[in-house]
Amino acid sequence: MSVLTKRILLGVAAVLVIIQFFGIDKTNPPVEASQDFLSIANPPAEIASLIKSSCYDCHSHQTKYPWYTNVAPVSWMIGHHIEEGREHLNFSKWGTYPAKKRAHKIEECYEEVEEGEMPMKGYVILHSEAKMSKEQKEQLIAWFKQREQQEI
Ligand code: HEC
Repeated sequence: MSVLTKRILLGVAAVLVIIQFFGIDKTNPPVEASQDFLSIANPPAEIASLIKSSCYDCHSHQTKYPWYTNVAPVSWMIGHHIEEGREHLNFSKWGTYPAKKRAHKIEECYEEVEEGEMPMKGYVILHSEAKMSKEQKEQLIAWFKQREQQEI
């Protein structure tokens, strides 16, 4: 290994060490059960469990942070997805959404699942419990469609 290669590798290692001091904020804001989507909509247990394990890490204040969320720069990417996910759709704030917004968000939910956009692909690779079979996806889509009717 040339001196230059060694210096570059050392430089990269130093940067990786330094960025570990810049962790993401992992404090979940408090959750009010009365505002929570699953408490309000009260779906059958299988559906609730699908939504909880496939969507809640990014679309609620009940995020679970695995060990690799301590490792920068992966943690920055995950932190960004959670922030953006909550901004677009936050099941913990469901009770504060006006009726029209709720109906629209539910429509987006089944569209995203139908199109295979949600849950995000990278997430499913790391979370086997978020992987849904074809039947589970169909069940979830059908339930969202039925729920949409109640929100309109
Ligand atoms: C790994 C994090 C993550 C998971 C898990 C996840 N989402 Fe998302 N979701 C995002 C991000 C980030 C966005 C915003 C950017 C985008 O649309 O790709 C988003 C956007 C959305 C939107 C679009 C909202 C809008 O305003 O356009 C819907 C609907 C949605 N997600 C539903 C779901 C559902 C339903 C699940 C579970 C089946 C789920 N998501 C799982 C991160 C996630």
